[in-house]
Amino acid sequence: MLKYIKSRIPAPLKQTVRQTLLDPIQRKVGDWHLKRSVQAFRSGRALDRDFIENFRRAWGNEGFSADATYISETVSRIERCNTPILECGSGITTLVAALVGERRNLTIWSLEQDSEWADFVGRRLKKNNIRNVELKHTPLRSYGGFVWYDIEKIELPNYFEFVLCDGPAVFDVWGAAHAQWRYGLLPALADRGAKVGDILLDDATEPRAANLLRRWRQEYGMGHRLIRAADGDCAFVSRMTSRH
Ligand SMILES: C[S@@+](CC[C@H](N)C(=O)[O-])C[C@H]1O[C@@H](n2cnc3c(N)ncnc32)[C@H](O)[C@@H]1O
Repeated sequence: MLKYIKSRIPAPLKQTVRQTLLDPIQRKVGDWHLKRSVQAFRSGRALDRDFIENFRRAWGNEGFSADATYISETVSRIERCNTPILECGSGITTLVAALVGERRNLTIWSLEQDSEWADFVGRRLKKNNIRNVELKHTPLRSYGGFVWYDIEKIELPNYFEFVLCDGPAVFDVWGAAHAQWRYGLLPALADRGAKVGDILLDDATEPRAANLLRRWRQEYGMGHRLIRAADGDCAFVSRMTSRH
């Protein structure tokens, strides 16, 4: 719900959030904590709830970041992955996915709609010497009826066993397409001939999610299991079998 409300926040207010995040002193402190967390992780520290919550604080964009439950689901899924991973909406999830991916020699392909945000995330990756991310600035465009990242000109693998779907942020400036939210993931990738395995959808009980989950089920045979948590719900979406 918080993120739905944010999809209606007027631009100047979002600018204030962003400025706070980019404040040089706060950023220096955050970066220092972030670096320490990355080092701890690389030297074998378990990615438990405490670690994830500290990491979120150090990242410093808590209003727009994935919740600890979503991050911890991300970790346990990637620990079992063997192919490149697609991420929709970059941020703290990019760093976490990349760090877990490092251990398995996996590349994270991350789509980001906002150029300033892509630069910010890119700098954090570089500062922490994280090299297994292909971060792509892909502005949103209309696909007629829905909006999604413009992936026409970028190279992508043709199979993603696992997709992190925590973006795009579809604000209400998009008119009717606002209601279709993140639906575009499946049709846009299918159009490119790229296949998708499982999806971890964040904010799975926000008002636009029911329509998206219904369409993915009817049009693409993808069922879902809701993961309810005090810090925010998400859903594990996968091809339907007799389980669904
Ligand atoms: C829900 S956020 C994705 C967050 C990312 N997965 C994470 O956990 O940090 C979706 C999109 O919102 C945008 N965004 C991130 N932080 C923002 C902020 N503080 N203000 C406005 N937009 C923001 C970025 O374009 C991002 O891709």
